[in-house]
Amino acid sequence: ADDAYKNRNPGRGGETHQVASGGTPVMTTEQGIPVADDQNTLKVGERGPSLLEDFHFREKIFHFDHERIPERVVHARGFGVHGFFEATESLSEVTRADPFQEVGRRTPVFVRFSTVAGNKGSFDLARDVRGFAVKFYTQEGNWDLVGNNIPVFFIQDAIKFPDVIHSVKQQPDRGFPQAQSAHDNFWDFISLTPESMHMVMWVMSDRAIPRSFRFMEGFGVHTFRFINLAGVSTFVKFHWRPKLGLQSVMWNEAVKINGADPDFHRRDLWDAINGGSPPEWELGVQLFDDAFAEAFEFDVLDPTKIIPEEQIPIRIVGRLVLDRTVDNFFAETEQVAFCTQNVVPGIGFSNDPLLQGRNFSYLDTQLKRLGGPNFTHIPVNAPRCPMAHFQQDGHMAMKNPVGRVNYEPNSWGEHGGPRECPERGYPHFPSQEAGEKRQVRSESFADHYSQARQFFISQTAVEQKHIGDALTFELSKCERADIRERMVAHLRNIDEGLATAVAKGLGLAVLPDALPPARAPIDLPPS
Ligand code: HEM
Repeated sequence: ADDAYKNRNPGRGGETHQVASGGTPVMTTEQGIPVADDQNTLKVGERGPSLLEDFHFREKIFHFDHERIPERVVHARGFGVHGFFEATESLSEVTRADPFQEVGRRTPVFVRFSTVAGNKGSFDLARDVRGFAVKFYTQEGNWDLVGNNIPVFFIQDAIKFPDVIHSVKQQPDRGFPQAQSAHDNFWDFISLTPESMHMVMWVMSDRAIPRSFRFMEGFGVHTFRFINLAGVSTFVKFHWRPKLGLQSVMWNEAVKINGADPDFHRRDLWDAINGGSPPEWELGVQLFDDAFAEAFEFDVLDPTKIIPEEQIPIRIVGRLVLDRTVDNFFAETEQVAFCTQNVVPGIGFSNDPLLQGRNFSYLDTQLKRLGGPNFTHIPVNAPRCPMAHFQQDGHMAMKNPVGRVNYEPNSWGEHGGPRECPERGYPHFPSQEAGEKRQVRSESFADHYSQARQFFISQTAVEQKHIGDALTFELSKCERADIRERMVAHLRNIDEGLATAVAKGLGLAVLPDALPPARAPIDLPPS
Protein backbone atom coordinates (compact mmCIF):
# COMPACT_ATOMS: atom_id res chain seq x y z
CA ALA A 1 0.00 0.00 0.00
CA ASP A 2 2.86 2.38 0.81
CA ASP A 3 4.44 1.91 -2.60
CA ALA A 4 1.13 2.33 -4.34
CA TYR A 5 0.59 5.58 -2.46
CA LYS A 6 4.00 6.95 -3.44
CA ASN A 7 3.51 5.89 -7.04
CA ARG A 8 0.17 7.64 -7.32
CA ASN A 9 1.30 10.75 -5.53
CA PRO A 10 4.61 11.63 -7.14
CA GLY A 11 6.31 14.62 -5.66
CA ARG A 12 4.47 14.19 -2.38
CA GLY A 13 7.53 12.97 -0.50
CA GLY A 14 5.70 9.78 0.42
CA GLU A 15 3.88 11.04 3.57
CA THR A 16 2.67 7.53 4.31
CA HIS A 17 1.48 8.27 7.87
CA GLN A 18 -2.05 9.00 6.57
CA VAL A 19 -2.55 5.62 4.99
CA ALA A 20 -4.47 3.02 7.01
CA SER A 21 -2.49 -0.15 7.57
CA GLY A 22 -2.74 -3.39 9.51
CA GLY A 23 -4.92 -6.39 8.80
CA THR A 24 -8.02 -4.33 7.99
CA PRO A 25 -10.10 -4.80 4.82
CA VAL A 26 -9.28 -2.67 1.80
CA MET A 27 -11.61 0.31 1.60
CA THR A 28 -13.77 0.36 -1.53
CA THR A 29 -16.29 2.67 -3.11
CA GLU A 30 -19.93 1.63 -3.05
CA GLN A 31 -19.28 0.11 -6.45
CA GLY A 32 -16.59 -2.08 -4.88
CA ILE A 33 -13.60 -0.30 -6.41
CA PRO A 34 -10.54 -0.29 -4.11
CA VAL A 35 -9.70 3.16 -2.80
CA ALA A 36 -6.08 4.33 -2.94
CA ASP A 37 -6.37 7.70 -1.19
CA ASP A 38 -9.10 8.68 1.28
CA GLN A 39 -7.25 11.79 2.52
CA ASN A 40 -6.90 13.99 -0.58
CA THR A 41 -9.13 14.91 -3.49
CA LEU A 42 -7.81 14.55 -7.02
CA LYS A 43 -6.30 17.90 -8.12
CA VAL A 44 -4.33 19.41 -10.94
CA GLY A 45 -0.75 20.19 -10.03
CA GLU A 46 0.50 21.45 -6.67
CA ARG A 47 -2.20 24.01 -5.89
CA GLY A 48 -4.66 23.54 -8.76
CA PRO A 49 -8.43 22.94 -8.91
CA SER A 50 -10.15 19.73 -7.82
CA LEU A 51 -11.30 17.41 -10.54
CA LEU A 52 -14.88 16.28 -11.16
CA GLU A 53 -13.33 13.02 -12.24
CA ASP A 54 -12.71 12.09 -8.57
CA PHE A 55 -15.58 9.59 -8.28
CA HIS A 56 -14.58 8.49 -4.80
CA PHE A 57 -14.77 12.04 -3.46
CA ARG A 58 -18.10 12.66 -5.19
CA GLU A 59 -19.65 9.44 -3.92
CA LYS A 60 -18.43 10.05 -0.36
CA ILE A 61 -19.79 13.60 -0.20
CA PHE A 62 -23.08 12.87 -1.94
CA HIS A 63 -23.74 10.02 0.45
CA PHE A 64 -22.91 12.15 3.46
CA ASP A 65 -25.18 14.93 2.18
CA HIS A 66 -28.09 12.48 2.25
CA GLU A 67 -27.49 10.83 5.63
CA ARG A 68 -30.41 12.44 7.46
CA ILE A 69 -33.97 11.24 7.18
CA PRO A 70 -36.91 13.05 8.77
CA GLU A 71 -37.15 12.39 12.47
CA ARG A 72 -40.42 10.97 13.75
CA VAL A 73 -43.12 13.65 14.11
CA VAL A 74 -43.49 12.44 17.70
CA HIS A 75 -41.37 10.07 19.81
CA ALA A 76 -38.31 11.25 17.86
CA ARG A 77 -35.87 10.46 20.64
CA GLY A 78 -35.74 6.76 21.38
CA PHE A 79 -33.64 3.76 22.16
CA GLY A 80 -34.27 0.28 20.77
CA VAL A 81 -33.10 -3.16 21.88
CA HIS A 82 -33.78 -6.80 21.07
CA GLY A 83 -35.12 -9.54 23.30
CA PHE A 84 -37.82 -12.14 23.57
CA PHE A 85 -41.28 -12.66 24.99
CA GLU A 86 -41.99 -15.96 26.74
CA ALA A 87 -45.49 -17.16 27.56
CA THR A 88 -45.78 -18.28 31.17
CA GLU A 89 -49.44 -19.18 30.81
CA SER A 90 -51.39 -20.47 27.83
CA LEU A 91 -54.17 -18.18 26.66
CA SER A 92 -55.32 -20.50 23.90
CA GLU A 93 -58.87 -20.55 25.26
CA VAL A 94 -59.23 -16.78 24.65
CA THR A 95 -56.94 -16.08 21.72
CA ARG A 96 -55.40 -17.91 18.81
CA ALA A 97 -52.52 -15.39 18.76
CA ASP A 98 -49.31 -17.32 18.23
CA PRO A 99 -47.22 -15.95 21.16
CA PHE A 100 -49.81 -17.09 23.71
CA GLN A 101 -50.48 -20.65 22.61
CA GLU A 102 -48.32 -22.63 24.99
CA VAL A 103 -46.26 -22.14 28.12
CA GLY A 104 -42.60 -21.59 27.29
CA ARG A 105 -43.12 -20.43 23.68
CA ARG A 106 -40.60 -17.70 22.91
CA THR A 107 -41.23 -14.95 20.40
CA PRO A 108 -38.39 -12.62 19.36
CA VAL A 109 -39.13 -8.93 19.96
CA PHE A 110 -37.70 -5.49 19.23
CA VAL A 111 -38.59 -2.79 21.75
CA ARG A 112 -38.15 0.96 21.35
CA PHE A 113 -38.48 3.29 24.35
CA SER A 114 -38.89 6.99 23.65
CA THR A 115 -39.91 10.41 24.86
CA VAL A 116 -42.79 12.06 23.02
CA ALA A 117 -42.24 15.79 22.68
CA GLY A 118 -38.50 16.33 22.39
CA ASN A 119 -36.52 16.28 19.19
CA LYS A 120 -34.11 13.49 18.32
CA GLY A 121 -31.21 15.23 20.06
CA SER A 122 -33.09 16.26 23.19
CA PHE A 123 -32.35 15.03 26.70
CA ASP A 124 -33.61 11.83 28.33
CA LEU A 125 -34.95 13.12 31.66
CA ALA A 126 -37.63 15.45 30.27
CA ARG A 127 -40.94 15.51 32.11
CA ASP A 128 -42.82 13.61 29.45
CA VAL A 129 -44.72 10.48 28.57
CA ARG A 130 -42.46 7.57 27.52
CA GLY A 131 -43.19 5.36 24.54
CA PHE A 132 -43.01 1.59 25.10
CA ALA A 133 -43.35 0.03 21.65
CA VAL A 134 -42.96 -3.72 21.21
CA LYS A 135 -42.69 -5.55 17.89
CA PHE A 136 -43.38 -9.28 18.25
CA TYR A 137 -41.96 -11.31 15.34
CA THR A 138 -44.58 -14.07 15.58
CA GLN A 139 -44.91 -17.15 13.39
CA GLU A 140 -47.97 -15.54 11.79
CA GLY A 141 -46.50 -12.12 11.12
CA ASN A 142 -45.55 -9.04 13.10
CA TRP A 143 -47.68 -7.82 15.95
CA ASP A 144 -46.89 -4.32 17.26
CA LEU A 145 -48.07 -3.35 20.72
CA VAL A 146 -47.36 0.39 20.51
CA GLY A 147 -47.85 1.61 24.06
CA ASN A 148 -46.79 4.23 26.57
CA ASN A 149 -45.72 4.23 30.21
CA ILE A 150 -49.01 5.87 31.19
CA PRO A 151 -52.27 3.91 30.83
CA VAL A 152 -54.44 6.77 29.52
CA PHE A 153 -54.08 9.48 26.89
CA PHE A 154 -54.66 13.23 26.54
CA ILE A 155 -57.45 13.02 24.00
CA GLN A 156 -60.38 10.79 23.13
CA ASP A 157 -60.41 11.25 19.38
CA ALA A 158 -57.52 10.99 16.92
CA ILE A 159 -58.60 14.16 15.12
CA LYS A 160 -57.19 16.11 18.10
CA PHE A 161 -53.72 14.50 17.88
CA PRO A 162 -52.11 17.16 15.65
CA ASP A 163 -53.42 19.83 18.07
CA VAL A 164 -52.13 18.26 21.27
CA ILE A 165 -48.75 17.59 19.65
CA HIS A 166 -48.46 21.05 18.09
CA SER A 167 -49.23 22.54 21.49
CA VAL A 168 -46.57 20.56 23.35
CA LYS A 169 -43.75 20.96 20.83
CA GLN A 170 -41.75 24.17 20.53
CA GLN A 171 -43.77 27.24 19.66
CA PRO A 172 -43.66 27.96 15.93
CA ASP A 173 -42.53 31.57 16.13
CA ARG A 174 -39.56 30.98 18.45
CA GLY A 175 -38.56 27.33 18.25
CA PHE A 176 -38.61 26.86 22.01
CA PRO A 177 -39.12 25.50 24.60
CA GLN A 178 -37.81 22.14 23.50
CA ALA A 179 -38.71 18.87 25.12
CA GLN A 180 -40.86 20.20 27.94
CA SER A 181 -44.45 21.06 28.53
CA ALA A 182 -43.81 24.23 30.53
CA HIS A 183 -45.31 26.76 28.17
CA ASP A 184 -48.40 28.73 27.29
CA ASN A 185 -49.43 26.81 24.17
CA PHE A 186 -49.49 23.48 25.98
CA TRP A 187 -51.44 24.72 28.99
CA ASP A 188 -53.76 26.77 26.82
CA PHE A 189 -54.72 23.65 24.86
CA ILE A 190 -54.93 21.45 27.96
CA SER A 191 -57.04 23.91 29.91
CA LEU A 192 -59.49 24.06 26.99
CA THR A 193 -59.59 20.26 26.74
CA PRO A 194 -61.09 18.84 29.94
CA GLU A 195 -60.77 15.25 28.69
CA SER A 196 -56.99 15.62 29.20
CA MET A 197 -57.28 16.11 32.99
CA HIS A 198 -56.79 12.47 33.92
CA MET A 199 -53.66 12.20 31.76
CA VAL A 200 -52.39 15.51 33.13
CA MET A 201 -52.47 14.10 36.66
CA TRP A 202 -50.24 11.22 35.52
CA VAL A 203 -47.91 13.49 33.55
CA MET A 204 -47.46 15.80 36.54
CA SER A 205 -46.76 12.79 38.75
CA ASP A 206 -43.39 11.13 39.30
CA ARG A 207 -44.25 8.65 36.53
CA ALA A 208 -43.22 11.25 33.96
CA ILE A 209 -39.60 11.34 35.17
CA PRO A 210 -38.65 7.65 35.39
CA ARG A 211 -35.32 6.65 36.90
CA SER A 212 -34.60 4.66 33.75
CA PHE A 213 -36.44 2.63 31.14
CA ARG A 214 -35.84 -0.42 33.31
CA PHE A 215 -38.08 0.96 36.07
CA MET A 216 -41.07 1.86 33.93
CA GLU A 217 -44.43 0.25 33.41
CA GLY A 218 -45.96 0.00 29.95
CA PHE A 219 -49.57 -0.01 28.76
CA GLY A 220 -51.36 -0.79 25.51
CA VAL A 221 -53.82 1.96 26.62
CA HIS A 222 -56.74 1.02 24.34
CA THR A 223 -59.15 -1.83 24.72
CA PHE A 224 -58.19 -4.49 22.16
CA ARG A 225 -59.80 -7.81 21.31
CA PHE A 226 -58.53 -11.32 21.78
CA ILE A 227 -60.25 -13.77 19.41
CA ASN A 228 -60.06 -17.53 19.85
CA LEU A 229 -60.23 -20.33 17.29
CA ALA A 230 -63.99 -20.55 17.70
CA GLY A 231 -64.25 -16.86 16.74
CA VAL A 232 -65.25 -15.75 20.25
CA SER A 233 -63.99 -12.30 21.25
CA THR A 234 -62.81 -11.19 24.70
CA PHE A 235 -61.78 -7.59 25.40
CA VAL A 236 -58.22 -7.13 26.61
CA LYS A 237 -56.02 -4.40 28.07
CA PHE A 238 -52.25 -4.94 28.14
CA HIS A 239 -49.85 -4.05 30.98
CA TRP A 240 -46.05 -4.36 31.22
CA ARG A 241 -44.68 -4.51 34.76
CA PRO A 242 -40.94 -4.08 35.40
CA LYS A 243 -39.49 -6.85 37.54
CA LEU A 244 -37.19 -4.24 39.11
CA GLY A 245 -40.22 -2.28 40.31
CA LEU A 246 -41.37 1.22 39.50
CA GLN A 247 -38.92 4.03 40.31
CA SER A 248 -38.66 7.69 39.44
CA VAL A 249 -36.31 10.55 40.13
CA MET A 250 -37.07 13.90 41.72
CA TRP A 251 -37.40 16.94 39.47
CA ASN A 252 -34.21 18.55 40.80
CA GLU A 253 -32.35 15.28 40.17
CA ALA A 254 -33.75 15.14 36.63
CA VAL A 255 -32.53 18.66 35.92
CA LYS A 256 -29.02 17.80 37.12
CA ILE A 257 -28.90 14.51 35.24
CA ASN A 258 -29.98 16.21 32.02
CA GLY A 259 -27.11 18.66 32.39
CA ALA A 260 -24.51 16.07 33.28
CA ASP A 261 -25.58 13.29 30.92
CA PRO A 262 -28.43 13.88 28.46
CA ASP A 263 -28.10 10.21 27.39
CA PHE A 264 -28.69 8.86 30.89
CA HIS A 265 -31.56 6.53 30.01
CA ARG A 266 -30.04 5.07 26.88
CA ARG A 267 -26.68 4.61 28.59
CA ASP A 268 -28.40 2.87 31.53
CA LEU A 269 -30.09 0.33 29.26
CA TRP A 270 -26.95 -0.23 27.20
CA ASP A 271 -24.85 -0.79 30.35
CA ALA A 272 -27.43 -3.09 31.95
CA ILE A 273 -27.68 -5.34 28.91
CA ASN A 274 -23.99 -5.39 28.06
CA GLY A 275 -23.08 -5.76 31.74
CA GLY A 276 -25.11 -8.97 31.96
CA SER A 277 -28.27 -7.68 33.70
CA PRO A 278 -30.95 -7.89 31.02
CA PRO A 279 -34.08 -6.17 32.32
CA GLU A 280 -37.37 -8.07 32.49
CA TRP A 281 -41.03 -7.17 32.51
CA GLU A 282 -44.14 -9.23 33.18
CA LEU A 283 -46.97 -9.03 30.69
CA GLY A 284 -50.33 -8.72 32.39
CA VAL A 285 -53.76 -8.76 30.77
CA GLN A 286 -57.13 -7.57 31.95
CA LEU A 287 -59.77 -9.69 30.26
CA PHE A 288 -63.47 -8.81 30.17
CA ASP A 289 -66.58 -9.46 28.15
CA ASP A 290 -69.41 -7.40 26.66
CA ALA A 291 -71.48 -7.72 29.83
CA PHE A 292 -68.74 -6.10 31.92
CA ALA A 293 -68.21 -3.41 29.28
CA GLU A 294 -71.94 -2.59 29.37
CA ALA A 295 -72.04 -2.42 33.17
CA PHE A 296 -68.76 -0.49 33.72
CA GLU A 297 -69.11 3.11 34.98
CA PHE A 298 -67.11 4.43 32.00
CA ASP A 299 -66.88 3.60 28.34
CA VAL A 300 -64.23 0.96 27.65
CA LEU A 301 -63.66 2.67 24.28
CA ASP A 302 -62.60 5.89 26.01
CA PRO A 303 -58.76 6.02 26.14
CA THR A 304 -58.80 8.60 28.93
CA LYS A 305 -60.09 5.95 31.35
CA ILE A 306 -58.56 2.92 33.02
CA ILE A 307 -60.32 -0.18 34.25
CA PRO A 308 -59.43 -0.43 37.94
CA GLU A 309 -57.61 -3.62 38.90
CA GLU A 310 -60.11 -4.05 41.74
CA GLN A 311 -62.77 -4.61 39.10
CA ILE A 312 -60.74 -6.60 36.61
CA PRO A 313 -57.59 -8.06 38.16
CA ILE A 314 -54.43 -8.25 36.09
CA ARG A 315 -53.48 -11.76 35.05
CA ILE A 316 -49.75 -12.29 34.41
CA VAL A 317 -49.29 -14.34 31.26
CA GLY A 318 -45.70 -13.89 30.16
CA ARG A 319 -42.35 -12.22 30.52
CA LEU A 320 -40.33 -9.88 28.34
CA VAL A 321 -36.53 -10.08 28.48
CA LEU A 322 -34.40 -7.45 26.75
CA ASP A 323 -30.96 -8.96 26.30
CA ARG A 324 -29.31 -7.62 23.13
CA THR A 325 -28.34 -4.15 22.03
CA VAL A 326 -28.48 -3.25 18.36
CA ASP A 327 -25.62 -3.70 15.92
CA ASN A 328 -26.39 -0.36 14.36
CA PHE A 329 -28.48 2.41 15.86
CA PHE A 330 -29.66 3.93 12.59
CA ALA A 331 -30.45 0.65 10.82
CA GLU A 332 -32.53 -0.65 13.69
CA THR A 333 -33.61 1.99 16.21
CA GLU A 334 -34.12 4.78 13.70
CA GLN A 335 -35.61 2.70 10.91
CA VAL A 336 -37.92 0.51 12.95
CA ALA A 337 -41.54 1.18 12.05
CA PHE A 338 -44.23 0.31 14.59
CA CYS A 339 -47.88 0.46 13.65
CA THR A 340 -50.98 -0.27 15.71
CA GLN A 341 -52.51 -1.82 12.63
CA ASN A 342 -49.93 -4.62 12.65
CA VAL A 343 -51.97 -7.33 14.35
CA VAL A 344 -51.90 -11.10 13.94
CA PRO A 345 -54.72 -13.68 13.92
CA GLY A 346 -56.19 -13.75 17.42
CA ILE A 347 -55.79 -10.01 18.05
CA GLY A 348 -58.27 -7.38 16.91
CA PHE A 349 -59.28 -3.77 17.37
CA SER A 350 -62.01 -2.12 19.36
CA ASN A 351 -63.91 0.97 18.18
CA ASP A 352 -61.83 3.29 20.38
CA PRO A 353 -61.71 6.40 18.12
CA LEU A 354 -58.11 7.11 19.10
CA LEU A 355 -57.01 3.63 18.13
CA GLN A 356 -58.88 3.81 14.83
CA GLY A 357 -57.08 7.05 13.95
CA ARG A 358 -53.71 5.63 14.95
CA ASN A 359 -54.33 2.74 12.60
CA PHE A 360 -54.25 5.24 9.74
CA SER A 361 -51.47 7.50 10.98
CA TYR A 362 -48.42 5.28 11.48
CA LEU A 363 -48.21 3.74 8.01
CA ASP A 364 -48.89 7.11 6.46
CA THR A 365 -46.06 8.86 8.30
CA GLN A 366 -43.65 5.97 7.73
CA LEU A 367 -44.14 6.14 3.97
CA LYS A 368 -42.58 9.57 4.17
CA ARG A 369 -40.07 8.97 6.97
CA LEU A 370 -38.66 5.81 5.45
CA GLY A 371 -38.85 6.92 1.84
CA GLY A 372 -41.60 4.84 0.25
CA PRO A 373 -43.53 1.62 0.48
CA ASN A 374 -40.69 -0.87 0.85
CA PHE A 375 -39.63 -0.31 4.43
CA THR A 376 -40.71 -3.83 5.37
CA HIS A 377 -37.62 -4.93 3.40
CA ILE A 378 -35.43 -3.37 6.10
CA PRO A 379 -34.40 -6.30 8.31
CA VAL A 380 -35.72 -4.84 11.60
CA ASN A 381 -39.16 -4.43 10.02
CA ALA A 382 -39.25 -7.68 8.06
CA PRO A 383 -41.35 -10.53 9.43
CA ARG A 384 -39.39 -13.60 10.50
CA CYS A 385 -42.03 -16.03 9.27
CA PRO A 386 -42.60 -17.26 5.70
CA MET A 387 -43.93 -14.43 3.56
CA ALA A 388 -45.38 -14.30 0.05
CA HIS A 389 -47.39 -11.61 -1.72
CA PHE A 390 -47.63 -9.77 -5.03
CA GLN A 391 -46.63 -6.30 -3.88
CA GLN A 392 -43.78 -5.16 -6.08
CA ASP A 393 -41.50 -2.36 -7.28
CA GLY A 394 -41.30 1.12 -5.81
CA HIS A 395 -38.16 2.74 -4.45
CA MET A 396 -35.62 0.28 -3.02
CA ALA A 397 -37.59 -2.85 -3.93
CA MET A 398 -35.51 -5.80 -2.78
CA LYS A 399 -38.07 -8.56 -2.48
CA ASN A 400 -40.04 -8.58 -5.70
CA PRO A 401 -42.20 -11.59 -6.63
CA VAL A 402 -40.14 -14.40 -8.10
CA GLY A 403 -41.09 -15.76 -11.54
CA ARG A 404 -43.67 -14.73 -14.11
CA VAL A 405 -46.81 -14.31 -12.04
CA ASN A 406 -47.60 -11.19 -10.03
CA TYR A 407 -51.40 -11.25 -9.88
CA GLU A 408 -54.21 -13.47 -8.77
CA PRO A 409 -56.47 -15.21 -9.46
CA ASN A 410 -54.26 -16.93 -11.98
CA SER A 411 -54.21 -20.36 -13.59
CA TRP A 412 -50.49 -21.08 -13.39
CA GLY A 413 -51.06 -23.91 -10.95
CA GLU A 414 -48.09 -24.66 -8.75
CA HIS A 415 -46.17 -21.77 -10.39
CA GLY A 416 -48.96 -19.37 -9.61
CA GLY A 417 -47.54 -18.01 -6.39
CA PRO A 418 -49.30 -17.45 -3.07
CA ARG A 419 -53.04 -18.05 -2.57
CA GLU A 420 -55.44 -16.67 -0.01
CA CYS A 421 -56.40 -19.10 2.72
CA PRO A 422 -59.77 -18.59 4.47
CA GLU A 423 -58.99 -21.21 7.13
CA ARG A 424 -55.63 -19.78 8.20
CA GLY A 425 -55.91 -16.14 7.14
CA TYR A 426 -56.51 -13.19 9.47
CA PRO A 427 -60.16 -13.20 10.53
CA HIS A 428 -61.59 -9.72 11.07
CA PHE A 429 -63.93 -9.94 14.02
CA PRO A 430 -67.51 -9.73 12.66
CA SER A 431 -68.83 -7.26 15.22
CA GLN A 432 -72.33 -5.90 14.63
CA GLU A 433 -72.19 -2.18 13.80
CA ALA A 434 -75.15 0.08 13.04
CA GLY A 435 -76.17 3.71 13.33
CA GLU A 436 -76.31 7.00 11.53
CA LYS A 437 -73.19 8.83 10.41
CA ARG A 438 -72.43 11.55 12.90
CA GLN A 439 -69.59 13.72 14.09
CA VAL A 440 -70.51 14.05 17.74
CA ARG A 441 -68.51 12.82 20.70
CA SER A 442 -70.19 9.98 22.54
CA GLU A 443 -72.05 11.06 25.69
CA SER A 444 -70.48 8.08 27.41
CA PHE A 445 -67.09 9.87 27.19
CA ALA A 446 -68.28 12.97 29.05
CA ASP A 447 -66.97 12.45 32.59
CA HIS A 448 -63.49 14.00 32.67
CA TYR A 449 -62.75 14.36 36.36
CA SER A 450 -63.71 11.19 38.29
CA GLN A 451 -60.69 9.13 37.35
CA ALA A 452 -58.38 12.15 37.57
CA ARG A 453 -59.50 12.49 41.18
CA GLN A 454 -59.29 8.76 41.75
CA PHE A 455 -55.68 8.79 40.55
CA PHE A 456 -54.78 11.81 42.68
CA ILE A 457 -56.21 10.45 45.91
CA SER A 458 -54.63 7.05 45.32
CA GLN A 459 -51.18 8.69 45.62
CA THR A 460 -49.25 8.96 48.90
CA ALA A 461 -48.98 12.38 50.56
CA VAL A 462 -45.44 12.78 49.21
CA GLU A 463 -46.51 11.88 45.69
CA GLN A 464 -49.47 14.25 45.91
CA LYS A 465 -47.10 17.02 46.91
CA HIS A 466 -44.93 16.25 43.89
CA ILE A 467 -47.98 16.59 41.63
CA GLY A 468 -48.81 19.96 43.19
CA ASP A 469 -45.21 21.13 42.91
CA ALA A 470 -44.98 20.02 39.28
CA LEU A 471 -48.19 21.83 38.36
CA THR A 472 -47.02 24.97 40.16
CA PHE A 473 -43.61 24.87 38.47
CA GLU A 474 -44.96 24.18 34.98
CA LEU A 475 -47.81 26.68 35.19
CA SER A 476 -45.49 29.34 36.59
CA LYS A 477 -43.81 29.34 33.16
CA CYS A 478 -47.08 30.43 31.53
CA GLU A 479 -47.01 34.10 30.70
CA ARG A 480 -50.79 34.45 30.49
CA ALA A 481 -52.57 34.67 33.84
CA ASP A 482 -55.92 33.56 32.40
CA ILE A 483 -54.42 30.22 31.32
CA ARG A 484 -53.02 29.61 34.80
CA GLU A 485 -56.38 30.45 36.34
CA ARG A 486 -58.30 28.22 33.92
CA MET A 487 -56.11 25.31 34.94
CA VAL A 488 -56.71 25.96 38.64
CA ALA A 489 -60.44 26.11 37.87
CA HIS A 490 -60.17 22.57 36.47
CA LEU A 491 -58.16 21.37 39.45
CA ARG A 492 -61.05 22.34 41.72
CA ASN A 493 -63.09 19.59 40.06
CA ILE A 494 -60.31 17.12 40.88
CA ASP A 495 -59.22 18.01 44.40
CA GLU A 496 -59.77 21.21 46.40
CA GLY A 497 -56.55 20.76 48.36
CA LEU A 498 -54.54 20.42 45.16
CA ALA A 499 -56.24 23.45 43.59
CA THR A 500 -55.59 25.55 46.69
CA ALA A 501 -51.92 24.52 46.90
CA VAL A 502 -51.30 25.30 43.23
CA ALA A 503 -53.19 28.60 43.44
CA LYS A 504 -51.04 29.56 46.43
CA GLY A 505 -47.85 28.49 44.64
CA LEU A 506 -48.82 30.64 41.66
CA GLY A 507 -49.63 33.61 43.90
CA LEU A 508 -53.32 33.78 42.91
CA ALA A 509 -55.16 36.11 45.28
CA VAL A 510 -58.54 34.40 44.84
CA LEU A 511 -59.37 30.84 43.88
CA PRO A 512 -61.12 30.88 40.46
CA ASP A 513 -64.58 29.29 40.26
CA ALA A 514 -64.58 25.60 39.38
CA LEU A 515 -65.38 25.03 35.70
CA PRO A 516 -68.77 23.41 35.17
CA PRO A 517 -68.11 19.77 34.30
CA ALA A 518 -69.70 18.26 31.17
CA ARG A 519 -70.94 15.53 33.44
CA ALA A 520 -70.72 15.48 37.22
CA PRO A 521 -67.86 13.33 38.46
CA ILE A 522 -68.80 10.06 40.12
CA ASP A 523 -67.45 9.59 43.62
CA LEU A 524 -65.24 6.55 43.38
CA PRO A 525 -63.36 4.95 46.24
CA PRO A 526 -59.57 5.35 46.04
CA SER A 527 -57.93 2.41 44.27
C1 HEM B 1 -45.17 7.24 17.36
C2 HEM B 1 -47.55 5.62 21.20
C3 HEM B 1 -51.45 8.18 19.95
C4 HEM B 1 -49.33 9.06 15.76
C5 HEM B 1 -45.48 6.61 18.52
C6 HEM B 1 -44.56 5.82 19.27
C7 HEM B 1 -45.23 5.35 20.34
C8 HEM B 1 -46.57 5.85 20.28
C9 HEM B 1 -44.70 4.45 21.42
C10 HEM B 1 -43.10 5.59 18.96
C11 HEM B 1 -42.92 4.42 18.09
C12 HEM B 1 -41.46 4.16 17.89
O1 HEM B 1 -40.76 3.90 18.88
O2 HEM B 1 -41.01 4.20 16.73
C13 HEM B 1 -48.81 6.19 21.19
C14 HEM B 1 -49.85 5.93 22.17
C15 HEM B 1 -50.93 6.67 21.83
C16 HEM B 1 -50.58 7.38 20.62
C17 HEM B 1 -49.72 4.97 23.31
C18 HEM B 1 -52.28 6.79 22.46
C19 HEM B 1 -52.80 5.87 23.22
C20 HEM B 1 -51.25 8.54 18.68
C21 HEM B 1 -52.24 9.12 17.84
C22 HEM B 1 -51.65 9.36 16.65
C23 HEM B 1 -50.27 8.94 16.75
C24 HEM B 1 -53.70 9.39 18.24
C25 HEM B 1 -52.24 9.94 15.40
C26 HEM B 1 -53.51 9.98 15.10
C27 HEM B 1 -48.02 8.71 15.89
C28 HEM B 1 -47.04 8.94 14.85
C29 HEM B 1 -45.83 8.41 15.31
C30 HEM B 1 -46.10 7.88 16.61
C31 HEM B 1 -47.29 9.61 13.52
C32 HEM B 1 -44.49 8.40 14.60
C33 HEM B 1 -44.34 7.06 13.94
C34 HEM B 1 -43.10 6.92 13.10
O3 HEM B 1 -42.62 7.93 12.55
O4 HEM B 1 -42.61 5.79 12.99
N1 HEM B 1 -46.71 6.62 19.15
N2 HEM B 1 -49.29 7.08 20.26
N3 HEM B 1 -50.06 8.43 17.99
N4 HEM B 1 -47.42 8.07 16.95
FE1 HEM B 1 -48.37 7.51 18.55
